Parts: sequence; C-alpha cells; structure tokens
Amino acid sequence: MSAVVVTREPPIAVVRLNRPEVLNALSEELMDELVSALEALGDDGGIRCIVVTGNEKAFAAGADIKTAFVEATPVTMLERDLTTRWERIRRIRTPIIAAVSGYALGGGCELAMVCDIIVASESAQFGQPEVNLGIIPGAGGTQRLTRTVGKYVAMELILTGRRIKADEAKAIGLVAHVYPQSTYLDDAKALARTIAEKPPIAVRLATEAIDLALNSGLDAGLEFERKAFYLLFATEDKKEGVDAFVNKRKPVFKGR
Ligand code: CAA
Repeated sequence: MSAVVVTREPPIAVVRLNRPEVLNALSEELMDELVSALEALGDDGGIRCIVVTGNEKAFAAGADIKTAFVEATPVTMLERDLTTRWERIRRIRTPIIAAVSGYALGGGCELAMVCDIIVASESAQFGQPEVNLGIIPGAGGTQRLTRTVGKYVAMELILTGRRIKADEAKAIGLVAHVYPQSTYLDDAKALARTIAEKPPIAVRLATEAIDLALNSGLDAGLEFERKAFYLLFATEDKKEGVDAFVNKRKPVFKGR
C-alpha cells in the first residue's frame, strides 16, 4: 500500500498521507513518496493548488521514532540528508495548503509549516514535542515557528513540548481557518479552488514575495515586490483582470 495517495481533481489535487497505523509518522519512504508526488503536481500545468492532508486522527505524528531514531547516530542522520527533501518541498511553486486534523506533531507540524497555508479541523493539535525525546525540532521548527508566532510563544512551545489545540493555533497565527470536523477537507478544497481560479503568475509571485518576507531584510523584500508588481503589468491575466473589473464581468485567467 502506498504511503501517499494522490487524487487529481483539476485544477486542484489532494495528497493524503497514508500510514494510519502509526498516525502518519514520516518514514523515509513516506517522505520520498510525498516529495515525488508534490514535485509531479508542481510540474503539472493542470494543477493550480495542492492540498496536503492526513486523516481525521492524524495529519502526521512526526518523524518515525521507532525506525529512524532508535539506532541513529549523528553520522547516520547526516547520511540520510533529511534537509534535501524539505528543501525540495519548499521549492515547489504551486501553492500548497496543509489541511490538518488530529495530530500535527514534531515533523508533522514542520510539514504543515513548510506549506503555504495551514487550515485545521476543530480536532487539530499542533506541537513540537521533540524536547521530550531529548532532541530539538530538526526540520525547520525552531526557525519557521519562531518567524510565524514570535520568539516568546515559540520558546514556550518548543521548551515545554506542549500541544496546542486548533483555536490556540489560530489565535497565535499558525492557522488561517478552523473548520468544522465534518467538513474540514471539503472546506480546504474549496479554499484551494478559490486560489486555483486566481491568475497563476500573480499567485506565484505573491507566494515568492511573502516567502521573502521571512527570508530577507525589508529592503530586499520591498525591492522584489516592486519588480514583481511591475512585471505583472506585462501579463495577459492583468489585462483580463482589469478589463473584467471595468466591464463588470467575471475574469477568466489563463496563466499567461
Ligand atoms: N513514530 C513512530 N510511531 C508512532 C509515532 C511516531 N512519531 N507516533 C505514534 N506512533 C505509533 C505508536 O507507537 C502506536 O503504535 P503501536 O500501536 O504499534 O504501539 C500508534 O502509532 C498509535 O499511537 P499511540 O498509541 O501512541 O496513540 P495515542 O493516541 O495514545 O497518542 C500521540 C498519540 C500523542 C501522538 C503519541 O503517539 C505520541 O506522542 N507520538 C509521538 C509524537 C512525537 O514525539 N513526535 C515528534 C517526533 S520527533 C520529530 O518529528 C523530529 C523532527 O523534527 C523531524
């Protein structure tokens, strides 16, 4: 059975983590399948937004502790080259929404954070519990959580390993929407379809500009934003969007 299940519903696609017996623990096989699936969808011109999800009980409970950590040494960890997989996900330019229900812990929370938007069901629980294993987050948690929620909240969460529920995650800015348990995946897909209807080049450049806000100083970010803004005036989709507004009709964007 595949560790990742892909459903194409153009213009969106859903990628479901599929190791329910271990709460979708992120084995190397799962991560390899996930990266390949996301890259293939990223290269697929018919797909304009991707939803990554798990099941109701678990988005992902983190690294596979039993297979990956028991015998691990610094050298085996180094040889696994875990960083490359996460970087490959980060480089995908099609927007990715993490639809989290149940546990998003450790690497699971980090997987949600490497996506572009996080939405949650009412049962979602986020946390970085690595400290309880004698380690620290190793897939971006100390950096992305801090840049998202600020130093003092990130410190408290990472130093205690405390789990937070969906409402608290929303309050600290980790989650964009909390949806009812019974509809969260449909709601995430509706959000993906809304984004998929927008002009793809504008969506891509907005994504890059927002990412740059976390990765650069203000001046470099503003410089990129200004150039991207001007560049979009050369697109057919800009003509279409402005014409549709002026003529009071719905725009149809083509990604040109
Ligand atoms: N790795 C491997 N197996 C896991 C797992 C994980 N991260 N999380 C859960 N499982 C397994 C359990 O061992 C159990 O398997 P068995 O039935 O064979 O015993 C099965 O999934 C169900 O789990 P529980 O019985 O524990 O379920 P629960 O509802 O009682 O508890 C839980 C759920 C609170 C999430 C608990 O499973 C838990 O604490 N899991 C570990 C969470 C964690 O520490 N994650 C961080 C990992 S480190 C990391 O991710 C590093 C990084 O930065 C990349």
